Amino acid sequence: MTTILMVCLGNICRSPLAEGILKSKLPSEVFFVDSAGTSGYHEGEKPDPRSIEVALKNGLDISNQKSRPFTVRDFDTYDHIYVMDHSNYNNVVHLARNKADTKKVRLILEHTPDAYTLEVPDPYYGGNRGFDNVYTLLNNACDVIASELLNEA
Ligand code: 4NP
Repeated sequence: MTTILMVCLGNICRSPLAEGILKSKLPSEVFFVDSAGTSGYHEGEKPDPRSIEVALKNGLDISNQKSRPFTVRDFDTYDHIYVMDHSNYNNVVHLARNKADTKKVRLILEHTPDAYTLEVPDPYYGGNRGFDNVYTLLNNACDVIASELLNEA
């Protein structure tokens, strides 16, 4: 089993979408995909209604997910940790115990050739258009990641 963790700040907007999208592109018998937030602000909550809606519009149901904070133990559980922006990167790497932990952490857009940015913008305070943009960025990134992971497996 290859294990993948998607991380953002609140684990209610971006990383739940990233989890749902990547899950839909990989066989569940071989890949386990989860998500977490660098903060516990929204612990126990469902994804933001705007993330649930943009996912549904694209044929994915993420409404059963629950927000939880990232912990140092996630370095033991997950093979790959994808973060949405540099702030998430710094927060996660700050908890790394060694080089092997640090090596697991990557910006999710790092290997997406056509992305106009390296960061998935935080859509929390914006309108619905922000969520469409996030969906497109994450869908393209997850196409790249899924093919990388399937090649490795
Ligand atoms: P996310 O968005 O990191 O994509 O889940 C946010 C959700 C909540 C907050 C910030 C970002 N907040 O400050 O409560």
